[in-house]
Amino acid sequence: MKSLLTWMVFSLIACGQCSRLHLIEHFLQQRSINTLLLLHCVQETVDQDVVRISKALRQSFRGSIYHIDVTKNHFHQQLGWHMYCERYKTAVIYNLECSGTEAVLDRLSEKAYFNASFQWLMFGGQNMELATSLLSQQNINYDTKMLLVFESVDPEKQREQRYEFYDVSGTVKRRGGKVIFTPLGFSTPENVLPTIVPQKPDLKGIVLWTVVSFYSTFIVGYQLISPPKTINTLEKLADSSLKMGVENLSYQHDFFARTTNPIALKLYNEKIAPNKYGFVNLTFGIQLVKGGGYAFHCDTTYGYTHVLEMLTEQQICELQEIELYPQRAIHVPMKDLCG
Ligand SMILES: *[C@@H]1O[C@H](CO)[C@@H](O)[C@H](O)[C@H]1NC(C)=O
Ligand SMILES: *[C@@H]1O[C@H](CO)[C@@H](O)[C@H](O)[C@H]1NC(C)=O
Ligand SMILES: *[C@@H]1O[C@H](CO)[C@@H](O)[C@H](O)[C@H]1NC(C)=O
Repeated sequence: MKSLLTWMVFSLIACGQCSRLHLIEHFLQQRSINTLLLLHCVQETVDQDVVRISKALRQSFRGSIYHIDVTKNHFHQQLGWHMYCERYKTAVIYNLECSGTEAVLDRLSEKAYFNASFQWLMFGGQNMELATSLLSQQNINYDTKMLLVFESVDPEKQREQRYEFYDVSGTVKRRGGKVIFTPLGFSTPENVLPTIVPQKPDLKGIVLWTVVSFYSTFIVGYQLISPPKTINTLEKLADSSLKMGVENLSYQHDFFARTTNPIALKLYNEKIAPNKYGFVNLTFGIQLVKGGGYAFHCDTTYGYTHVLEMLTEQQICELQEIELYPQRAIHVPMKDLCG
């Protein structure tokens, strides 16, 4: 027994393609990371090689490395210090086999850290069921960048360890969203990491236009002119009498400043710029939508959480969505509500 154990440990270290260090180095390189947050539980057996990994990374990685021991009380505070900066390309690495994982993940979810700003690399050890069930309960967004890694044995070459990769993404948990695990394949001697990184829309790609039409007040007249839900393209939106607002975020301003899309420019020049409420916060924007005759542009990853909280079922059924990039599939399970 003892000799088998020794052999296994030795084989793990000896096997080039399955060393965690090697994988991490490739990950950092592939994603052009310049800040690394290593969440660890170094005092536990499952994470003992963090010291060795970290020392080696100091040699090979030019960016900054921060270590946070997730088993210590000050973990929350330290995390708060490091998880704020959108400017840097930050990777966060975490071993799901550490003790207390559930509480750690809860914290990360609660703070909405599984968002587009961070590149997550999660090690799930050999326990796929545990890791997937833990992650399924998290607030994992549509635009989350998370690579989940398992160790498995190659059935063809017995005892040869390899890594198995999954992309993890989802819809917003609070809306009862689903977490999706997409298999990306295995490590090979040639490729430590899968070369295919799933393409997801960037922030500008996951916006949508929400238009509401009511049968009460103002919209009654509108309804006589055209039946509800007929404004289903950006062109029709631009030509409609609807007022329009956009969520007041720097990247939205940036989008309209840079876009060359003529219809987006038209919307901006004719609807948004002259509007007193052209750029408003999310709550206010949805409030305006609720009032009727208004289209509000927001991020679907969290916009709909507010929509669900602020609007009645009937009002939600009358929503019309227009995507800024219509070629992209957007998961908006509104149909369920309106059945
Ligand atoms: C992700 O979360 C961090 C920390 O709360 C925040 O600073 C950042 O702006 C968020 N990024 C996105 C794209 O929402
Ligand atoms: C929009 O955001 C900017 C920067 O955060 C702020 O200065 C401005 O007052 C905001 N405008 C509105 C209408 O909330
Ligand atoms: C949103 O904007 C409205 C109107 O400018 C303001 O009254 C409200 O306090 C803002 N809400 C938040 C959460 O910033």
